[in-house]
Amino acid sequence: MTVLSIKNVSKRFGGVLAVDDLDLTVDKGEIVGLIGPNGSGKSTTINLICGVFPMDKGSIKLFDNDLKGLARYERSHLGIARTYQNIRLFGGLTVWQNVWIATRQNGIGSFAKKLGALFLRSQKSVEAVDELLDLFALQNKANIAAENLSFGEQRRLELARALASEPKLLLLDEPAAGMNSEEVQELRDRIFKVRDLGISVLLVEHVMELVMNVTDRINVLNFGKKIAEGKPNAIQGNALVQEAYFGS
Ligand SMILES: Nc1ncnc2c1ncn2[C@@H]1O[C@H](COP(=O)(O)OP(=O)(O)O)[C@@H](O)[C@H]1O
Ligand SMILES: [Mg+2]
Repeated sequence: MTVLSIKNVSKRFGGVLAVDDLDLTVDKGEIVGLIGPNGSGKSTTINLICGVFPMDKGSIKLFDNDLKGLARYERSHLGIARTYQNIRLFGGLTVWQNVWIATRQNGIGSFAKKLGALFLRSQKSVEAVDELLDLFALQNKANIAAENLSFGEQRRLELARALASEPKLLLLDEPAAGMNSEEVQELRDRIFKVRDLGISVLLVEHVMELVMNVTDRINVLNFGKKIAEGKPNAIQGNALVQEAYFGS
């Protein structure tokens, strides 16, 4: 079953064609990689899926839902969650509060609803927060302000927050940036756990140690255009890909 289907999508910023006639799919239970040199359109692709800005042409579907014209919160409500290239957390709130707020954000469109939700601590979401903190080994940090976490812990908290909306598709924008080899291994295991929860994953990543060892399939962008697609070992040996990364 196809979870995400991107067809003929383009996006221009002034003179820059950031995404150029892109086709890309993510199937149920799949972990799909999206790689390419700096500025090749990876984050723009994620932003188009989330509805940060409109595309110029093409279509993006989540299952049978055409996302065209839908607001960000509506896409979140349909089951799309993401992390950012630069960590975004509520620094002054505790780890627990950060995740708990995220459980309330899915599909909540109005301030009034949000306010109501803050007073409605349902047992279900309390349990969900605890489970997420367990999954990301943050239980012993639950009462610490997010800004006082280590970098690796903040990255884990971001993932826990993304999962709190119970997404069907998780978009990760360079989650391994700045991690050491051991942290990359742990991240890989967690991404597998996410997949085991039935969530499909689109992974934008520069750290090849992660991309090559966690994805089922990889798409390669260069100047907004897809130049290759295939299994990790095929991509690793692809001459076009090597040229895009290292020049001819
Ligand atoms: N909001 C924006 N406004 C103008 N130009 C942008 C914007 N976002 C991205 N770009 C440009 O689009 C191109 C692709 O950027 P991006 O998708 O961030 O690349 P990547 O994530 O692959 O490094 C770059 O040339 C970048 O400068
Ligand atoms: Mg980027």
